[in-house]
Amino acid sequence: MRGTLIVCADYESLSREAAQRVAAALAAEAERQSRVTLALAGGTTPRRLYELLASDEFRARIPWIKIHFFWGDERLVPPDHPESNYRLARETLLGRVPVPPANVHAVAGQLPPEQAALSYEQELRTFFRLRRGLPAFDLLLLGVGAEGHTAALFPGAPLSQLVAGEERLVMVAHGPDAMPRLTLTLPVLNAARRIYFLVAGEDKAAAVAWAVEGKGALPAQQVMTAGELLWLLDSEAASQLKAVRVAR
Ligand code: 6PG
Repeated sequence: MRGTLIVCADYESLSREAAQRVAAALAAEAERQSRVTLALAGGTTPRRLYELLASDEFRARIPWIKIHFFWGDERLVPPDHPESNYRLARETLLGRVPVPPANVHAVAGQLPPEQAALSYEQELRTFFRLRRGLPAFDLLLLGVGAEGHTAALFPGAPLSQLVAGEERLVMVAHGPDAMPRLTLTLPVLNAARRIYFLVAGEDKAAAVAWAVEGKGALPAQQVMTAGELLWLLDSEAASQLKAVRVAR
């Protein structure tokens, strides 16, 4: 098994546990550095976590002026599109806490795919002051799809890309639907100091069991870090894990 498992009774308690841990991690990092990098997950699962981080109970724990927001993946749509991961974060979190606009490093989803990828990659290289090498996020939040994808790294698709011997940081990706996406590549995900998976629901139980206990090659199974790897699960998402007996 890779990483630490935290199994919570339901989606609300999972989101609260995640909020506690995300707030503590960001506050700890802010004690030791002036800029803390957080890469957000998209989809629907993190919605309640983001709302809680912006709530009176948690917002004061985080020095927002130090937090720099990135995305692990983004749908290539305009920022106000219902499918935009940026829009989810803006509505539930960024629009409710005092984050300086310069700290929000969103994907230019309205650009043509390859142009958006190059632009986001340049943003990463500039921010992390990287001519070569990989950016190391202080905290990366990820979800898992029912078939084992994470970020926008899908089964059967490339997980990384070399261009002239140089690791790409960002790739254009296509999921099972027709929507084009941008994703951080697997080497960038794995360079993060802390990786927190947030997974809820029975439909994810098989993917979680494969990723945590399986020996396959699903994208979510390839995520690992020399730092902290945490699986934050509700009881349904954990229900097929052998290592965990979930009290119903
Ligand atoms: C996205 C996400 C993706 C997501 C999983 C789970 O843009 O869709 O980043 O990787 O985390 O698909 O999505 P749900 O949380 O909606 O189940």
